[in-house]
Amino acid sequence: MLSGGRQFVDPSSQLLVAWRMDAVTDETRGLTKAEEAQQQAAIDPATAHQSIVVVDFGSQFSMLIARRVRELSTYCEFLPYDAPRERIAGQDVRGIILSGGPNSVYEEGAPMAPDWVWELGVPVLGICYGMQLMAHQLGGKVAPGREREYGPASVVTTGESPLFHGLPEKLDVWMSHGDRIERIPDGFEPAARSANSPVAVMANRERGYYGLQFHPEVAHTPRGKEILSNFVHKICGADGSWTPGNFIDETVASIREQVGDGRVICGLSGGVDSAVAAALVHRAVGDQLTCIFVDNGLLRAGEAEEVVETFRRNMQMNLVHVDASDQFLAALAEVTNPETKRVRIGNTFVRVFERESRKIEDARFLCQGTLYPDVIESASHGSGAVKIKTHHNVGGLPPDMKLGLVEPLRYLFKDEVRRIGEALGLPEEMVWRHPFPGPGLAIRVLGEVTYEKLEILRAADRIVMDEVKNAGLYRELWQSFAVLTDSKTVGVMGDFRTYGYAVAIRAVVADDAMTADWARLPHELLARISNRIVNEVDGVNRVVYDITPKPPGTIEWE
Ligand code: XMP
Repeated sequence: MLSGGRQFVDPSSQLLVAWRMDAVTDETRGLTKAEEAQQQAAIDPATAHQSIVVVDFGSQFSMLIARRVRELSTYCEFLPYDAPRERIAGQDVRGIILSGGPNSVYEEGAPMAPDWVWELGVPVLGICYGMQLMAHQLGGKVAPGREREYGPASVVTTGESPLFHGLPEKLDVWMSHGDRIERIPDGFEPAARSANSPVAVMANRERGYYGLQFHPEVAHTPRGKEILSNFVHKICGADGSWTPGNFIDETVASIREQVGDGRVICGLSGGVDSAVAAALVHRAVGDQLTCIFVDNGLLRAGEAEEVVETFRRNMQMNLVHVDASDQFLAALAEVTNPETKRVRIGNTFVRVFERESRKIEDARFLCQGTLYPDVIESASHGSGAVKIKTHHNVGGLPPDMKLGLVEPLRYLFKDEVRRIGEALGLPEEMVWRHPFPGPGLAIRVLGEVTYEKLEILRAADRIVMDEVKNAGLYRELWQSFAVLTDSKTVGVMGDFRTYGYAVAIRAVVADDAMTADWARLPHELLARISNRIVNEVDGVNRVVYDITPKPPGTIEWE
């Protein structure tokens, strides 16, 4: 995967990514069909709950719709627009949401909703492009608008509609469309208008079909959550059984069924995904789980100790703590190229993990923290792709280690993983930790990585984290950290000239890591961070603040 033009290496939390490079097929792994079947998860949450299906037409907000529905305690499946009906086989689908998208419905080759959407006999909500599709495919007419409507707008609802139950007549909403509905299909009526669209909402109450020209899923539509809740609960009648408690119970049962009396190994990175995955497996099969924590020496201050404390002492898990810092540092000696750093770290991790996992006799399963967005991403590359990815992950294992995959988080978004982590009693610092790159501090020490430089960075980074937390801003930021530049600058301390490193502070806000903006941290906070770093961290005499958004900058400096 490319990230900002770089190879994205995540050797620890997605621990086998690097092994995909030399993936082998099932034949070479020598798995029989029966073994393969046993290695798949036993219970599928998608069939255990009532669900809403989001059909994706490519809007940047599509996945957000699914997350919003899940926040309403309802399982939500996310499918590409060309998904065949078999993809929902066995599911108790209560409603469908057609997402927005960049196309115009009247263009040649524009993606259409599959027939099963209209044949299932369940309520359908079309959002933006989804609404236009609904109009177009059900006999109405869509045409280019005279003006593009983009950004904040108001709509006034007309008549009674269950979609707007409990809401005022006038609603602030977020619009983003260029087309408009010229004629609504038979059986529909307008249910709201805006200054530019006489039909900002259309409804066919009898069939439970609704079209919204605006985006209820974004924060800029302040009452959007209630609109979605009305659709999911009032119109679709979904029961709200998708809760952390239910998820944990079902997943624990599923893991027990899958694993039986087999032994499971799990790589811990200190990040939230592998921690929650391990905690779920531990709850299910206790001592049958052995966690391997490869300490690469590139973690932040106190992190390795916290992992050991939490898992070995508090949760009494079998934890193998491998201090491989010297091996990683040796692999990084004299390396300055960021890509080479990533590759060396990835390769070293694979070697260490393989060595350690071989010591665990009769291991039959490997637990991975794969999340739902990873599954969606591979699924969108063609049907059956989910399976292919899974096999590729396992495929890189040595052929004599026939390990099945346990992926307890493959149905979850990151925010759900955090809620499950909280419900499992993991420490708050671990559950709410900012994302941390697999190659760790090696890509925040610019130029050659040495133990001394890592120690300087750890000390500066701890100050940033402490101060951001003290200011109550930690959860508002996507990431905040220190970078040790490779530049030395002249300064003065007391009566003496100093010549020390410049440290950069990076703090960004983002919804996902695709784009980000630099955080407008209060000046007093920046002043405190700068003061403390130059006073408390030997070897640093200057602090700068990075004010580059992404794009064009990336979040990490290397
Ligand atoms: P950039 O720097 O590309 O980062 O804006 C986007 C997000 O990805 C993280 N990141 C990485 N994570 N392996 C990882 O596991 C990597 O090689 C890597 N490079 C960047 C970064 O921290 C941010 O959250």
